[in-house]
Amino acid sequence: MSEIESAKQETRIFNPPAEFAKNATISGMQAYQALRAEAERDYEGFWARLARENIEWHKPFTTTLNETEAPFYKWFEDGQLNVSYNCLDRNLKNGNAAKTAIIFEADDGKVTKLTYQELHGRVCQFANGLKALGIKKGDRVVIYMPMSIEGVVAMQACARIGATHSVVFGGFSAKSLQERIIDAGAVALITADEQVRGGKQLPLKAIADEAIDMGGCEALKSVIVYKRTGGNVKFVEGRDLWMEDVVANQPDQCEPEWVDAEHPLFILYTSGSTGKPKGVQHSSAGYLLWTMLTMKWTFDLKPNDIFWCTADIGWVTGHSYITYGPLAVGATEIVFEGVPTYPNAGRFWDMIARHKATIFYTAPTAIRSLIKAADADEKVHPKNYDLSSLRLLGSVGEPINPEAWMWYYRNIGRERCPIVDTFWQTETGGHMITPLPGATPLVPGSCTLPLPGIMAAVVDETGQDLPNGQGGILVVKRPWPSMIRTIWGDPERFKKSYFPDEFGNKLYLAGDGAIRNEQTGYFTITGRIDDVLNVSGHRMGTMEIESALVANPLVAEAAVVGKPDETTGESICAFVVLKRSRPTGDEAKQIAKELRDWVGKEIGPIAKPKEIRFGDNLPKTRSGKIMRRLLRVLAKGEEITQDVSTLENPAILDQLKQAQ
Ligand code: WT7
Repeated sequence: MSEIESAKQETRIFNPPAEFAKNATISGMQAYQALRAEAERDYEGFWARLARENIEWHKPFTTTLNETEAPFYKWFEDGQLNVSYNCLDRNLKNGNAAKTAIIFEADDGKVTKLTYQELHGRVCQFANGLKALGIKKGDRVVIYMPMSIEGVVAMQACARIGATHSVVFGGFSAKSLQERIIDAGAVALITADEQVRGGKQLPLKAIADEAIDMGGCEALKSVIVYKRTGGNVKFVEGRDLWMEDVVANQPDQCEPEWVDAEHPLFILYTSGSTGKPKGVQHSSAGYLLWTMLTMKWTFDLKPNDIFWCTADIGWVTGHSYITYGPLAVGATEIVFEGVPTYPNAGRFWDMIARHKATIFYTAPTAIRSLIKAADADEKVHPKNYDLSSLRLLGSVGEPINPEAWMWYYRNIGRERCPIVDTFWQTETGGHMITPLPGATPLVPGSCTLPLPGIMAAVVDETGQDLPNGQGGILVVKRPWPSMIRTIWGDPERFKKSYFPDEFGNKLYLAGDGAIRNEQTGYFTITGRIDDVLNVSGHRMGTMEIESALVANPLVAEAAVVGKPDETTGESICAFVVLKRSRPTGDEAKQIAKELRDWVGKEIGPIAKPKEIRFGDNLPKTRSGKIMRRLLRVLAKGEEITQDVSTLENPAILDQLKQAQ
């Protein structure tokens, strides 16, 4: 049974535990409905109230939503604020100065704790250091760092001086890094000598050097290096500096740079349906508001919570639920450098027990791989760990299949903890469709209902609403404060991708399909409807991988499709035509390995195809269009039952059937 089918047939319902519901920020469905009704009655008034209650403004706003240049919406436009001030200084004033902000656990288990006072000081010192290097409001700074306190400090310091950061995940290749530095026009790069994951040291500075040496990064003046391991690195005189030297002698106070509500807080590159990644641009105020509200609504954050989001700061989840949201609401959070399987697959459970985590937020892929590990080795089964501190679990990044949901619910939550299956995207800034733990009855495999104020709907190709029970296109009908503002440097692409003409430029197109349950109206996400793959919760464009493959001198043509995978959700399957004759046997294996490594170099190891099949050609229509839907069937190893009469070369299908 497919995940969608099993979710549709799912009848189990889990009500919020009474005790949880009683104390929750949004307690009971009536409270949820009341907030929804408020948003429907007075949309702008609703958001204005929340923005006034949650954000500390330097200059209050007087206009809430400006739609005159739609779909380039502006929120709280004439207000001024500083995001770092809201995350740090406010906590010093609120009596949280001595509260632990970050519990950092390194790969080797070493724990470092930092109070809000200390974090504030570190951010201010670094902000002053950046200013001393001439970095100023509006400049772009690329951050290519391991999971670390310094990574969070770097992001917050940029926010403090009004520089727009663009974090590049540490697993991306030199070429990917170079492309992002160029596209953003970055004046500085913050990186580390090496990163440490699973006991292994991986170079970052060397990759950064390689990226810059590829050329085109003319705007880049400074490279700041955090010394993580003390490993050997090359330094370029006049360009490279150690982070410790940048902060040395800098005062631990730094007046924040007040910025307009719409000032771009960050750009984060993500994959779309064309080859070139899109620089998703986010605002300051609207984004901050949404990270705060979702910390309170979805995670029901309380002062004593120990919050743990296992994402990397290189992804939007790490931005919203490590760097900004938890700090803005004064939480104590865990930041983890390592991987879930080192020194063994009990690492997450052991850390929850040792740090007494109360809220745990992770990805279905991690859960599925830890289920396998627990089945294989009793010693790392969660039953051996004291998980009694937990009160809430979360899931993010990809659909969670009901089996994994149930395991998570029973073995980690011990049937006491609600699970919030949060649907959202890099573009949305924070949660969009998710249960509220003290209100929403849970159904495994469904992200349930939109948050108050989020006008999500399922429509057909013409933008008309579909009745519940009919699958269609997921859209959001009204702008919301934390939505993407534009694609950096490409406003046309922004319009085309998210507010296309077909929908009258009025509906936000998420790029996912969805279906609503006939009885409950609950949403189930049925997956991407564009050429975007989701592998282990990592988003990748098929065209990006194809471009990487055809850039190899051996390759004439390539088509990439997703294939369902038990652990990673989807895996990458590439169909390749070489310039020379089709290889078989050991030779095919050898070339496949070469091509996999090549893609790893071009994009990053996460983009390596799991499977590569060679053919003399690809299945094409008479007009030369590659028939991807057939390739998807072949990748799954299923028989083709669809109409192939428009196919130019049907014989090719037999050749591509076999996995090499
Ligand atoms: C895509 C967005 C969510 C932030 C991190 C990933 C898929 C995300 C869910 C969920 C089903 C989900 C969608 C979406 N997705 N969360 N709970 N259930 N699918 O952000 O890299 O921008 O990816 O991830 O397909 O469009 P992203």
